[in-house]
Amino acid sequence: MWAIAADEFGGPVRSVELPEPSPGPGELKVRVLAAGVNPFDRKVVDGMMRDSMPHVFPLVPGTDGAGEVVGSGERIFGTFFHKPVGVGTFAEYVTVPSTNALAPLPDGLDPVVAAALPTAGMTALQLFDRLGAADSVLVVGARGGVGSFLTQLLGDRAIPIGRGDSLVEADALVDLVRDADGYAANLPYARSLAFTTNYAAADPAQNFGMKGSAEALTRLASLVLDGTLDVPITRRLSLRDAADVFAGSGGGKTVIVM
Ligand SMILES: NC(=O)c1ccc[n+]([C@@H]2O[C@H](COP(=O)([O-])OP(=O)(O)OC[C@H]3O[C@@H](n4cnc5c(N)ncnc54)[C@H](OP(=O)(O)O)[C@@H]3O)[C@@H](O)[C@H]2O)c1
Repeated sequence: MWAIAADEFGGPVRSVELPEPSPGPGELKVRVLAAGVNPFDRKVVDGMMRDSMPHVFPLVPGTDGAGEVVGSGERIFGTFFHKPVGVGTFAEYVTVPSTNALAPLPDGLDPVVAAALPTAGMTALQLFDRLGAADSVLVVGARGGVGSFLTQLLGDRAIPIGRGDSLVEADALVDLVRDADGYAANLPYARSLAFTTNYAAADPAQNFGMKGSAEALTRLASLVLDGTLDVPITRRLSLRDAADVFAGSGGGKTVIVM
């Protein structure tokens, strides 16, 4: 099968031919139809988890995807990240524990759109729930994957902040991009609530971690199907476009279409 893989931590990714992965006990083998790209995937290649989880090489990144279960033909989408790290969705086939956050792909939902949803969409949805009734929310990094979903969910309560924009005082802050120093500089603009997705806060309650679930995926799919949520896919690549896969989004989502 064709895949995008790295030969070492921190290395470039390249288009390669690899054997198809074999499912272990409790795992599904899935023919990938589309894979969504997230900053997390590059961080995995860079070795973010090298000391905490086993990895295999060539390391195939890719957390999000939509595909067809080999054998049953059921169409599913969700998060495929599992141990050992390196059997990811940037490939024609992936294996995944059936206990991962996976949901049926509803009729009418394009697999390419579904593949763009899981990590960024569930993060946005759970942040939206945590923000409660906050009536103004600074979203720092608003044009990216998480930010584009979160600003849509918040509607006119969102104050989108892109590169170079000045902050104003607001009820809440969601900082999707800054490091510890940048987050500390942004924090005074939030009157009551603040979250970082980059574990940049000194207060652990502000360090937001997404928890994937089939329920959250189903809720996201419904929001797309009923027209509430638009999925801004700005780049469609193939498995032959390895050099471009982490080249920066310029906003929206990048999806690899098989
Ligand atoms: N903790 C969790 O559970 C969790 C879950 C999901 C994501 N995350 C993390 O959250 C971050 C955002 O994820 P994402 O999928 O939204 O990433 P993304 O799609 O790459 O979007 C990030 C956006 O922020 C913009 N940006 C970069 N620096 C900025 C700055 N200083 N001020 C304002 N905007 C800036 C980027 O613009 P350019 O394109 O110009 O660079 C891009 O539009 C990533 O670090 C990701 O790993 C964490």
